[in-house]
Amino acid sequence: MTHSSPSSHKASLIDGKAYAASLYTRIREDIISFHEQYGITPGLAVVLVGNDPASEIYVRNKALQTHHVGMRSFMHMLPETTSESELLTLIKQLNADPAVHGILVQLPLPSGIEAHRVINTILPQKDVDGLGEVNIGRLASNRPGIIPCTPLGCVLLLRDQLGDMKGQHAVVIGCSHLVGKPLALLLLAEGCTVSIAHIHTRDIKVLTQQADILITATGCHGLVRGDWIKPGATVIDVGITRLQTEEGKSRIVGDVFFDEAVHVAGRITPVPGGIGPMTIACLLENTLTAARIQVGKSLPCV
Ligand code: GUN
Repeated sequence: MTHSSPSSHKASLIDGKAYAASLYTRIREDIISFHEQYGITPGLAVVLVGNDPASEIYVRNKALQTHHVGMRSFMHMLPETTSESELLTLIKQLNADPAVHGILVQLPLPSGIEAHRVINTILPQKDVDGLGEVNIGRLASNRPGIIPCTPLGCVLLLRDQLGDMKGQHAVVIGCSHLVGKPLALLLLAEGCTVSIAHIHTRDIKVLTQQADILITATGCHGLVRGDWIKPGATVIDVGITRLQTEEGKSRIVGDVFFDEAVHVAGRITPVPGGIGPMTIACLLENTLTAARIQVGKSLPCV
């Protein structure tokens, strides 16, 4: 397949929005039974430092969906000038607050604040992003823990689409702490043969062409061309780039050159409507998991 050879084949679309909607329905029911059993409404605190417009949209969506499933939402919007020690003081207050079961600090943080110190100040049982060293360590050791939201969303969709993934070659493009690395660990736990490609990888196309499952999380829009994809492969696009249109509106696009990829892949996530909705649904699932841990329930298996 070359860039210029359109085919009549069309991949089936993986509908993350519909899957997330079914997760929301289940979470809402679980919140009701949790409240009946323990008299507790799970609460999620979201902290945003600074006024990055994209981050503001993300955290407002998170708060909206938190209410929507019947949880309590606590928003903390702090100015760009907030110091690391002020932020750490807030985290410690939230750690001690029994109404708060999950804490999420929106990333990226302004320069001058060390993200790893902030994330690792969150108690592991309230770390609903699953990004602290305790939860990442549990994931790396195949122990039950809280799983980072976007990688969890990818694996839930893949399980739904493919069932057993043992022996499949999964290629992950991007090695961030937020997505690429934890996702590679999750796919290993699924029994995949996992390759991780990143900015220094040579001949990346030769690698991606071998992928039964190709997942890209780079934020480089249009990076993955049609001829990077093995015919029939399952393609998951985690990238989110906001482009300005000529009419002054904005449009969201992914890492995959969709119009080419759709003629080669077997199944593909659209952007928007693929992984994006799954991330927030998994955050709320993780908040419920965190609340269960805090009433003494054991940690779930992945
Ligand atoms: N920024 C972009 N995605 C995420 C996420 O999943 N968690 C946090 N904390 N920040 C983000």
